[in-house]
Amino acid sequence: MKMHGSRGVVQITSEIRLIIKDNPFIIPHLCCFMRLLFYLSGEHPLLAEAEVRALFETYEQPWKTLFFDHQVAIYEVDFFPELSRLSMTHQVLNLDFSLEKKTFRVRVKRILSDVNSLQLEKKIADDLQKEYGGLPVDLETPEQKVYCIVQKGKEFVGRTVMDFPYMYEERKPQYRPYFHPSSLHPRIARALVNLGRCKKEVLDPFCGTGGILIEAGLMGLTVKGLDISEEMVTGTKQNLEHFGITDYQIFQGDAGNIESYFSEVDAVVTDLPYGRASRIVSSGNDLYFEAFQSIREITKRACIVCPHPYNFESQDFTVKERFVLRVHKSLNRYIYVLS
Ligand SMILES: C[S@@+](CC[C@H](N)C(=O)[O-])C[C@H]1O[C@@H](n2cnc3c(N)ncnc32)[C@H](O)[C@@H]1O
Repeated sequence: MKMHGSRGVVQITSEIRLIIKDNPFIIPHLCCFMRLLFYLSGEHPLLAEAEVRALFETYEQPWKTLFFDHQVAIYEVDFFPELSRLSMTHQVLNLDFSLEKKTFRVRVKRILSDVNSLQLEKKIADDLQKEYGGLPVDLETPEQKVYCIVQKGKEFVGRTVMDFPYMYEERKPQYRPYFHPSSLHPRIARALVNLGRCKKEVLDPFCGTGGILIEAGLMGLTVKGLDISEEMVTGTKQNLEHFGITDYQIFQGDAGNIESYFSEVDAVVTDLPYGRASRIVSSGNDLYFEAFQSIREITKRACIVCPHPYNFESQDFTVKERFVLRVHKSLNRYIYVLS
């Protein structure tokens, strides 16, 4: 099968379906490993890629990054992580695929590319037809989907392992029984839980309306929360139950004193109070300083969203990763992944 791209012709064998024009690396294909391509959200590709790596690390299985540029990241893995946990990936493709004698469809997605999608779809479909000796095409409800991503002139062809429906919109703060505008978008909330490498439980000591805990609970994790406001505590419980989450412990309390409510936890994931909310402090001291001391006492892992940069090293944390999340023109949030 031959694919024509902007820089010449690349020969594709049935063993190697990854097509990268001017391939910067040669990927040895190990028998028990497969190459998975993650088509990442364009909203924040760095965060999306970090979410995938964090998911691999959560499983403590061998994996290796083979390629990452903009919205395409390719990893070599020998296991399937729980892909449904991801929130910032559009699609996962297996680049080492074969097709069965079933209906199929080919779709092309262009990213920073001006290739003719229809022509390319037809070309790939024709080549696959030849290779497999005729396969029925079903454009509406195919039994197997082949997807080609063309990004900056490089073509990647794989079989869809998972595509993600846009269910996050339905869980936006305004659709919950208890609403407050300070809650994060559920897609970001879920990414934070993944960045925290949470295996069995999550604690949010500034839980507000429970945005982070809802996502953690829907991922099957035990959820624990604290908020200084009684109204927020009631609201969080109401919201969790609305989504069928019953395995929770939520208390009204001060995040400067988490140890009084919870002993060791798997990970802390939280979005700090800012502006008016940050003044709700029960002691007169620096809320952030006290909360971070308290977090340090009960966990080794944390993912914290700050309204401004913060020197976590001074409080005995190691900053594994840091991301800047643009909320709007003049408002940023800083995401810290700590260990
Ligand atoms: C940015 S909001 C959290 C939003 C939350 N992620 C959500 O989904 O709604 C910060 C929360 O911190 C709470 N808060 C402020 N001071 C606190 C303290 N000392 N201890 C615990 N919670 C506190 C506020 O009541 C507020 O609900």
